This record gives sequence, C-alpha cells and structure tokens, in this order.
Amino acid sequence: MSRDVRSLQQESPLVFELSRPGRSGYQVPPTSDTLPEFEVPANLKRHTAPRLPEVAENTAVRHYVNLSTRNHHVDKDFYPLGSCTMKYNPKINDELAGLRGFSLISPWQPAADIQGALQLLRDLSDALLEVTGMDDITLQPAAGAQGEFTALLMFRAYHLKQGNARKRIVIPDSAHGTNPASIVLAGYGVTQLPSDSKGLMDIDALKRTLDEDVAGLMITNPNTIGLFESNIAKIIDLVHEAGGLVYMDGANLNALMGIARPGDMGFDACHMNLHKTFSTPHGGGGPGSGPVAVSGKLAKYLPVPVITRKNGLLDWEFDRPDSIGSVHTFYGNFGMHVRALAYIKSMGGDGLAAISENAIINANYIRSKLSSAYQIFLHRPCMHEAVFSGNLQKAKGVRTTDIAKRLLDYGIHPPTVYFPLLVPECLMIEPTESETRETLDEFVDVMLKIDREASENPEMLKHAPYTTPVRRLDEAGAARNLNIRYFNDADA
Ligand SMILES: Cc1ncc(COP(=O)(O)O)c(C=O)c1O
Repeated sequence: MSRDVRSLQQESPLVFELSRPGRSGYQVPPTSDTLPEFEVPANLKRHTAPRLPEVAENTAVRHYVNLSTRNHHVDKDFYPLGSCTMKYNPKINDELAGLRGFSLISPWQPAADIQGALQLLRDLSDALLEVTGMDDITLQPAAGAQGEFTALLMFRAYHLKQGNARKRIVIPDSAHGTNPASIVLAGYGVTQLPSDSKGLMDIDALKRTLDEDVAGLMITNPNTIGLFESNIAKIIDLVHEAGGLVYMDGANLNALMGIARPGDMGFDACHMNLHKTFSTPHGGGGPGSGPVAVSGKLAKYLPVPVITRKNGLLDWEFDRPDSIGSVHTFYGNFGMHVRALAYIKSMGGDGLAAISENAIINANYIRSKLSSAYQIFLHRPCMHEAVFSGNLQKAKGVRTTDIAKRLLDYGIHPPTVYFPLLVPECLMIEPTESETRETLDEFVDVMLKIDREASENPEMLKHAPYTTPVRRLDEAGAARNLNIRYFNDADA
C-alpha cells in the first residue's frame, strides 16, 4: 500500500475562500474591473438587435430544464459507463472554478498578475505526482487521448536523442481504441498482442515481439476488463531490457489511488483523465483534461511552457531545447485544473484512497449480485469495473444492445457495450464509488427484471427504448452527422 497519497493534506473546500480578493493565500489576479476596456472593432458590431424570443424568466428556465432532461446525465440518474468513470461532479468544484479570481483571468496577463493561478497549477501538479509516484508532469493535454499522443511524441524524442528511430508500439487486444489511434498519429506502427486466458498481457507473446524496432508498450492498468496486470513489474522489465519505454493508460486510475502507483511500478509515462478520476465533467459537459506524468528520463521532453520560479515569482518557461513543443494553447483547460484541485483538497489523501477502495467494492458488489443471471467473463474479483457477457440472453434471442436500450426505459444509462472486443456480447459496468447502496440495488433489480423480460417477451426488448425522446438511432450516423438544431416537439 502506498502511504504517500494518504499524506496529501485534507482541506475543507472553505480553504478556497482564501482565493477571494483581499484575502491571503492564493494571490488574486486582477478582475475585469481592473482590466483595460476592450473596444469591439466597428466592422464587427451589429447594427440590428438579434432576433431573440421575448419570454418571461420562468419560461426560459423551464425551457432549459426541460431540454436538460431529454438527454441522460450523471445529475439525472445512474450512469455506469465502463472505463469512463462517470462519477458525480461535486458542485463545490464549479463554485470554486467560478470565483472571479479564477474565471476572469487571461493567459495573456503578465505572470506577475497571475501568481495565484500559477501556484494552483503547481499545487495540482504536486498532488498528481504524489498520486502517481512519477517525477514530473504537464497539465496541458485536453483529454486522455491527447495525453497518449503527447507521451508518444516524448517517446519519439527520447529515442531520437539516443540515435534510434524505433518504429513500433505494442498494445494488448484489450486496449482502448484511442491507443492505436494515438500511435498512428505519432507516426508509429501498431503491434497488437492477444491477451492470455486470464485476460492479462501474454508475457510469452510480448517476449516474442520485443526487438530493437519496438519504441514502447502502452498498457492500461487496471485493464479494460477490470483486472490488475499482476505481472506488470516483469512486463516493464522486459520492455526496458529491450530498450523500449512503457506507457500506462491511466484512464482507470480511479481503482489505484492509495493502493499502487505507476511510478513505483516502473512506468515511464502515464496520463490521468481529470474528467474521470478527479470528478471534472465529461464530454458535452467538458472540456476535458488529460495531464501526463513522466519519469525523470522524459522530463526534458515535456511540452512548453513549464512553470518555474524566477526571482521569487512563478513564471512560464519556454526555453527548453528538448521539449516536444506545445500541445494546447497556454497551459490547458485551467477551469478543469481548479475543479480537480478542489476535489483533491476536499477529499484529502485518505479520502482519495477510500475512493479507490469503494470503487472496487461497488464493482464487485454488482459483479456478485448479477452473476445469477448474467455470464461473468472471468471468475475472479475485479477492480473498478465488472465485465459480463450477454451470451445467456443471446440464447434467448436478445442481444446486448437490446439490454442496453431497455435500461433507458428504466431511467438508467447503459454500461459500455461490445468493448473490449475480446468479450462476446460484452457489458462493462463501472458503478464508481459515488453511488449509494440503494442506487446499486435498484440497478441490480432492473438488470434482473430485463433478464426476466428476455425470457418472457424477447420481441418487446428488440424495440426498446419506448420512453426516450428518440428511439433507435443509427448511432454511428448520428455521431458523424450531428444535428444540434433546436426543434419544438411539433417539428419532430
Ligand atoms: C482506457 C481508456 N483509455 C483512454 C481513454 C481516452 O480518454 P479521453 O476520452 O479523455 O480521450 C479512455 C476513455 O474512455 C479509456 O477508457
């Protein structure tokens, strides 16, 4: 058990009161009151008022509240999307990110004006380094996927510096789709290895593929089947012996805090999804943030700028000759950094460790409660997510997609389905620590009810959902041809 994460000091969210103007602690940058007036150029100004509906305030509020209920979100109901850690986003995070001293600053301001913000970025960096056990970090990437890409560019820079232009990155077949995409984008070839019969990395297959062309290995730990890679030390040694680097896809870090650290395992780099483990919003509620922590040997390749102290003041440092450059404007999504630090400070080290322990307990609770009706993929305790196959329901004429759609009729977001690909009719359920026992029990009851429906009326399940604003969509088509126009029910 890592003790270090627990040593992170717990602070009441009220400590952020210190960032209000006029108080000590975080120094407050100037607000809009003290910023110079900005004049919009005449040719960009409107000459006529925009056509906006004139409505009463309560009509406007009802309009938005009603719209917000047409989609599913974590404030509406349970959202056990596997590998996505859809935990509750505490509202205190938003309140703190909205403080004028944080929300009205500009990255164009002189560093001397934004000492408080720079200190906050340093504090968040230190906390994330404590959680991961790594040596240095960038907060720039805007998503896990961009973190992967950033780290792979650092791998490339590292190998080129050693005079080696290596060509391939190895991944297991349980890898998230962003892994091969990032590899290709970074200019490498992908070598995918089959998992062994326990759902873990196949060490013999790894040994066979390692040669002087392998730039590194990307591996998710715990993996996307919810299992800890128990041979991780051996795996990392093998890759290092072959001259490669090892990347941990840290999307599932919610299962590791206070239990094990990528740095102690020997990883060279790992990303964290602040919009998963550290409770900042996802997707449409984003933007995201995917900081990358690295071991000492990659530190000089980190994106610029980094924050340094010059003449007693914090400042940006751009003059880093080995840096891969920038991967985001300025220093990433600052509002997410405030939210993540708010979460870390309000939880404290013991709280973060308890989060991971409870995430694991909740997943195993679901795993055991559903095992009477749904086929468990592997008969061993899981980490943060429980993986089932819908094979038993398929035998009744119902596919996993029908189960997923039917859940929407019961007000629950479906789990991740058909991923990882190695599990037939896969249902990957990640309840997270932030759900109550009552919510988990309600979910279990609904899943058992759907199984009974599959026996009694499989045809009915094939046309679910029945209660949502839209029924079955061409999901790939809908994602590719987004129609975000607002329409009235009468237009539908
Ligand atoms: C295992 C894994 N890796 C990487 C990612 C990519 O993260 P992001 O969506 O922040 O780009 C995800 C996202 O779900 C994931 O589950």
